[in-house]
Amino acid sequence: MNFFQYRNGRLYAEEVPVSEIASAYGTPLYIYSARTLHRHFRAYDEAFDGVPHIICFALKANSSSALLRSLAKQGCGADVVSGGEIFRALKAKIPSGKIVYAGVGKTEEEIRYALRSRILMFNVESENELFEIDRIAGSMKTKAPIALRVNPDIDPGTHPYISTGLRKHKFGIPLEDAFEYYKAARKLRNTEVVGIHKHIGSQITRLSPFVDALKRTLSLIDELCVSGAEIRYLDIGGGLGITYKDEEPPVPHDLAESLLPMLKGRRLTIIVEPGRSIAGNAGILITKVLYMKAGKEKDFVIVDAGMNDLIRPSFYGAYHHIQPVEKRKRRNILADVVGPICESGDFLAKEREIPAVRQGEYLAVMSAGAYGFSMSSNYNSRPRAAEVLVSGKDFTLIRRRETYSDLTRGDIVPPSV
Ligand code: LLP
Repeated sequence: MNFFQYRNGRLYAEEVPVSEIASAYGTPLYIYSARTLHRHFRAYDEAFDGVPHIICFALKANSSSALLRSLAKQGCGADVVSGGEIFRALKAKIPSGKIVYAGVGKTEEEIRYALRSRILMFNVESENELFEIDRIAGSMKTKAPIALRVNPDIDPGTHPYISTGLRKHKFGIPLEDAFEYYKAARKLRNTEVVGIHKHIGSQITRLSPFVDALKRTLSLIDELCVSGAEIRYLDIGGGLGITYKDEEPPVPHDLAESLLPMLKGRRLTIIVEPGRSIAGNAGILITKVLYMKAGKEKDFVIVDAGMNDLIRPSFYGAYHHIQPVEKRKRRNILADVVGPICESGDFLAKEREIPAVRQGEYLAVMSAGAYGFSMSSNYNSRPRAAEVLVSGKDFTLIRRRETYSDLTRGDIVPPSV
């Protein structure tokens, strides 16, 4: 079931015509479907039903407070990578006991905040960091629950910028060194080893990288078990892909089906950290056509959303389907859909065949719910977009459009200038 569908040529978000929402709040505008979000969360929750598990939504994909609050109500946990994300997760009432914290560059301030908040575990990415966490926990007279993030050296077959589990990447601890690191960790006085973590990349469209990575991780768990270490949490990371164009990625049920048999008889709580596969297809970006410009080789559709609103096409050459909000009988044109930013790299689509649109019409950029708003910026001093959540017939503003004064809010002009 797709909750963004045409009815009589009008694009709907659940039960509401998208054009109605866009007229009410203006563009560029992110619109999310609550039903889609919940369905995606439940798909994970049900898939791993057979084993103790926590689904920790990766906040980096979308950290909207309203979305997080509604996921929290469903029982969702959080995968965070910064103090700011811990703050957002707690504010959305995600229980601290369901928060896992990864990232190669945790600062002392962030580590203290995480310890004070009593998160479930730190996913530690280096030996240096391990000692630092132990030192800080000691100074706070507490114990830090930790997992080591192992790097299983698996090629997930995805875009180089979003694959993370190869030896050449900055993430995690090489699998072959992990045993020694665990040994060291167990000797630390202010650290408690509770788990193991891996995450090999994002937008993965095959099961085999997950299976291979888990196999390698399980051998390490066995080795650790023999040595007397108790691993309670196995965090398998996120990374399941979604359909942007014609990909046919496995769904959470397929993932669980291929992994759970390998986990039989083990007393482990499984943690999964999906981001994109929960939020990606739960959101769209609506933009208005400002101008049409006929070029010599192709046309340009100039819209009011730019790379500051959605950077994925510029940054990764990512494909996002673009479709009119109101379907009309029009011929197709070959066009670049570009934003107002002063960069040639500012485009939402390149040489795309789309129906000839006209000034003032709305376009929907699909699959924009993950790594859309969360990666947006104020570049070119553009206020960031508004966000709306749709649930059935209701829609509500969940983030107001930024104003010009938001842009200068943090600026300081010293009297001396
Ligand atoms: N866990 C860890 C430790 C991660 O680093 C990530 C994503 C996730 C979970 C969630 O992965 P997902 O289920 O969303 O694939 N900005 C890029 C994606 C970067 C992903 C970074 N890490 C994009 O727009 O494609």
